[in-house]
This record gives sequence, C-alpha cells and structure tokens, in this order.
Amino acid sequence: FPIHAFQEALVSWFKLEQRDLPWRKDQDPYKVWVSEIMLQQTKVDTVIPYFYRFLDKFPTPESLANADEQEVLKAWEGLGYYSRARNLQSAVKEVMENYGGKVPNNPKELGNLKGVGPYTKGAILSIAFGQPEPAVDGNVMRVFSRIFKVEEDIAKPKTRKIHEDLVRSVISKEDPSAFNQGLMELGALICKPRNPDCLLCPVQEYCMAYEQGLEDILPIKTKA
Ligand code: ADE
Repeated sequence: FPIHAFQEALVSWFKLEQRDLPWRKDQDPYKVWVSEIMLQQTKVDTVIPYFYRFLDKFPTPESLANADEQEVLKAWEGLGYYSRARNLQSAVKEVMENYGGKVPNNPKELGNLKGVGPYTKGAILSIAFGQPEPAVDGNVMRVFSRIFKVEEDIAKPKTRKIHEDLVRSVISKEDPSAFNQGLMELGALICKPRNPDCLLCPVQEYCMAYEQGLEDILPIKTKA
C-alpha cells in the first residue's frame, strides 16, 4: 500500500477543500476539546452557534471550572446529552487542580479526564498537539472499512481497536492533524453513509471498496 501517496492525497485535499469551521481557527487544546465533545453526538451545523456562545461565556479552562453548573447547563441547552457538559466541567476542574490549567498533552493523563474517551483523546492529541494518534469515530470507521475492505461489524465495540491500529499504521507523521481531520471531512463530504461520491474522492485510487464495487456494502453495521 502506497502510504505516502495516500497521505499526500488526503492531506492536500483536506487543505484545499475543508469547510471553514470555527474550531479550525486555532489549535488551542481547550477549544479543540470543547468542539470535539460537542461534535460527538451533534451535527456540525447545530454545533457552530453553541461553540461560539460557549467559548464566549467560558473562554478558558479556568472560567469553565469556576462557573456555576447551572450556567454551564444553560449554555448547553438544546445540544442534549447533558452529561457531556457536566463531565467537561468536572474534567476542566481536574485540569485546574492537577495540571495548572494546562490541558495535558499525553494519552495517559488525557484519557483519565472525565468524559475523555479514546476518540476525544486522539482528536486533542493530533489536532492540538500534532501527535500521530488515531481519532476513530463512526465516520472514520466507515471510511476505513471502505478503503481497506474491513469487514468487521462497526457496531461491535472491539472493531474500533482494529481501526485504531490501521490508522496508526498509515497516519501522516508530518501532519497528523490534517490527516485525522481529512478523514473526518472525507466522511462528512464524500464518503457518506449512503451514496458516497466516489467519483469526487481524493483517495479513490487507494480504495479497495471502490475497486471491487463494495462501497454500498461496506461498512458492515448491525443494529440500528
Ligand atoms: N466531527 C468530529 N470532529 C470534527 C471536526 N473536528 N470537524 C468536523 N467534524 C467533526
């Protein structure tokens, strides 16, 4: 597999075609963290105004740590999954107490923060800190299932590990942030769940599903 050509095709496409999204304006780990928590169960278009308002009210870990919980929940109102907001505030308090208000830049400490699972951890490490760590969500599993013809059920918890290992084996060491965000963007704009736009895909020539006409079959996903 031509790893370098694949990385280059994905990263240069991302740099050219990425959407102009507010959390892409800087690499502040706190802002990346807030955005990734919001984006986990909520669509991009819905998140945008919440992201602006939340950071306007709570621009730093310190301001969020010191805020009244009701104020935080009010800023989250309409996004749903309110435990995300409560966990984020608890975690930011931990960051104040244990790390002097600096978001940790290593997998162990990050992963121990409340509400920071493998996906969020990888997103912060790669996007904010430039580390070659996987950030695998359902979209990335869909994209990788197709490119590498992975036939494991993406609804099964164990399948994430397979995809994380695959991402580790092909992620750009030069630009892990653009690589991971390129996968997210590809999943959102081209490699959609239904009717993927394979003819527009920057990595079509590397895609086993496309080559074998399996793009409508993969990924395999039981339940829902
Ligand atoms: N979905 C999850 N994380 C995202 C990001 N950083 N940009 C766009 N969509 C996303």
